[in-house]
Amino acid sequence: MRQHVNPLSRNFNEIERIPSLIELFGDSKLNLHLDIGCAAGEFLFDLALVNTSWNYLGIEIRERLVKTAKLRVQEKEIKNLYFVFGNANNILNDVQNKFILENVKSISFNFPDPWFKKRHYKRRVIQPDFINILSNSLQKGSLIFIKTDVKDLFDYMDCTISSNLNFKNIDKNDFNYSKSFNPNKIRTNREKLVIDNKLDIFECIYIKI
Ligand SMILES: C[S@@+](CC[C@H](N)C(=O)[O-])C[C@H]1O[C@@H](n2cnc3c(N)ncnc32)[C@H](O)[C@@H]1O
Repeated sequence: MRQHVNPLSRNFNEIERIPSLIELFGDSKLNLHLDIGCAAGEFLFDLALVNTSWNYLGIEIRERLVKTAKLRVQEKEIKNLYFVFGNANNILNDVQNKFILENVKSISFNFPDPWFKKRHYKRRVIQPDFINILSNSLQKGSLIFIKTDVKDLFDYMDCTISSNLNFKNIDKNDFNYSKSFNPNKIRTNREKLVIDNKLDIFECIYIKI
């Protein structure tokens, strides 16, 4: 399977309309977490099965992974997990899907594709315009989590988010994970690999003010 998909390809111009929260989840009133670039969704399955007081939504640009994840949700009859296929930037910029950003408590970007070449930076999922959309739609107090093993990408993401005056950096050491979307600090697949290889992880949490 292709590992890197060009998110700017015209293939992703058509956008999946996300059903209403009542259609998505067994209990639409639970706190909602959004994971962007969730791959096959293993991290979200692990979270959803344990933290039944949260709803989880994953967006992933590789269609086959999303199809398989959706089938798994049905088979396991999981009511607090949903997957959406497409380019997260296009999906969340669409007016019909705006309600997602208005309702999420937190968003994670775990090990996003780094796109090392400068001419490919525009393919990175975190873009100033996208952060503006988040800043205009998220409720005050909503959180953004970023995590990567690529220092250059971390600096770029941190600079892009911190440049928006509506987001403030939270000291990770003061953060109470027990009330977050990930109280048990479950690790993503990429994170496990990075830890096995003894590489550094750079991470940050931001709050919408
Ligand atoms: C390096 S993988 C990390 C997967 C997972 N988050 C983890 O930590 O194991 C990055 C994922 O983001 C997806 N992705 C990249 N750009 C995206 C975009 N614009 N919208 C949605 N998913 C995207 C890729 O297809 C890939 O599955």
